[in-house]
Amino acid sequence: MKVAIFGLGYVGAVSGACFAELGHEVVGVDVSRAKVDMINRGESPIVEEAIADLTVAAVKTGLFRATLDAAAAVKASDVSLVSVGTPTAADGTPDLAYVEAVVREIGEALAGMVHPHTVIIRSTVPPGATLERLAPILEKASGETLGERLHLVFNPEFLREGKSVKDFHRPPFTIIGAMSDRGYDDARRLYAGVECEIIRTDPGVAESIKLLSNAWHGLKVAFANEAARILVARGIEPRAALEIFTRDTVLNISPAYLTPGFAFGGSCLPKDLRAMVSIAEARQVAAPIMKAALASNEAHLATAISAVRACGRRPAVLFGLAFKPGTDDLRESPFVALAERLIGKGYPLRIVDPFVDASRLMGKNKAYIEGEIPHFVELMATDAEQAVDEAEIIIFGHATSIDKGAILERGPGKIIIDLTGDEDLAACGADYRGVAW
Ligand SMILES: NC(=O)c1ccc[n+]([C@@H]2O[C@H](COP(=O)([O-])OP(=O)(O)OC[C@H]3O[C@@H](n4cnc5c(N)ncnc54)[C@H](O)[C@@H]3O)[C@@H](O)[C@H]2O)c1
Repeated sequence: MKVAIFGLGYVGAVSGACFAELGHEVVGVDVSRAKVDMINRGESPIVEEAIADLTVAAVKTGLFRATLDAAAAVKASDVSLVSVGTPTAADGTPDLAYVEAVVREIGEALAGMVHPHTVIIRSTVPPGATLERLAPILEKASGETLGERLHLVFNPEFLREGKSVKDFHRPPFTIIGAMSDRGYDDARRLYAGVECEIIRTDPGVAESIKLLSNAWHGLKVAFANEAARILVARGIEPRAALEIFTRDTVLNISPAYLTPGFAFGGSCLPKDLRAMVSIAEARQVAAPIMKAALASNEAHLATAISAVRACGRRPAVLFGLAFKPGTDDLRESPFVALAERLIGKGYPLRIVDPFVDASRLMGKNKAYIEGEIPHFVELMATDAEQAVDEAEIIIFGHATSIDKGAILERGPGKIIIDLTGDEDLAACGADYRGVAW
């Protein structure tokens, strides 16, 4: 393909040399004459492993050149790839001025276009920016309607500086946030020869993956460092502990616990997070992440309560009281916390959880629920069908398959507030409301 790459910084210079290596005809565009001249001399404008040799080779074969003339580069290309900077603006938001300027320039160069063209945004932009900010600029400048001859795609970049050539060849995945089939196909063709999974999604999701990834990586580094500070304060060797910690690929380094749902609770997670915080505080070690996990969990519970309150004070039934389905462990169950607060706000509430049998509760478990909701026995309903019929709001935490069947059959016409993300409930015809989806 013929590709114009806008911005010859860390992303653009590496992408240009690597796309040329794949056999594409690349013209790099930059406002910096120095960078353009360097590329044309076969020199890389950035320092990176393997990039110097790759640039010389690409320029020698004639497949990689650079120019200051944006319009000519666009006109000579099938695809324009935008990799200019998106620095942080004074108010903390990403500054899209360079991306917007380049998209406008590309659009103007394409006014009156004859051949189809796809614009691929590779710079990191906040979720929503491609459709809300860049698409209107491109349409206005070009006079074209997107999806006909002109296409717009968001395609995030995952390379790490220092390893960017390797990362170009072996990315974790290629994500193509496309608004049209043609845009998707053009972006996919660009990566022919790069072995990795290609995922098609919409631009907003593609934009989010990039920010989520970097936020997650930042959180991982900060978590490891915070954990090390706490452990070392107790005389434990943190590197040994964290190395073994990462070997659990079932629960620790895995997709486990990464599906949005309800707040965490139960007898272990809150207690042990509090233990980490207390060790840190006793030794004057800063542990903002451990504390924030507890605070964020509270915020999630508050979001669920707001969702119920937004429906007005109407009869409600809560499915699920124990912290997990199939157990009667009520200690620090987030459903108990939810029920307690709704009752406190005067909600007429019934609760269905067949695994919680008041007559069998003992010890700490019994003491916990009696401390939180002393009259909980009176609220428990044993007939799920009747409980659904009597309620106007169904709050779904968890249920047996039979009880869920009662909700699916008798729930339509009522409000369902889903704390878990259950697809059957979403499709059952009720007034379905997720907590954060
Ligand atoms: N650096 C990384 O490792 C990395 C990884 C993934 C994503 N990203 C994202 O990619 C984008 C680019 O990052 P970078 O590190 O390559 O930036 P950079 O600052 O190194 O390079 C940006 C280039 O764009 C050029 N430029 C600015 N305005 C221009 C215009 N109107 N026309 C042509 N060129 C113009 C600049 O002269 C500069 O050479 C950013 O959004 C960044 O967040 C970077």
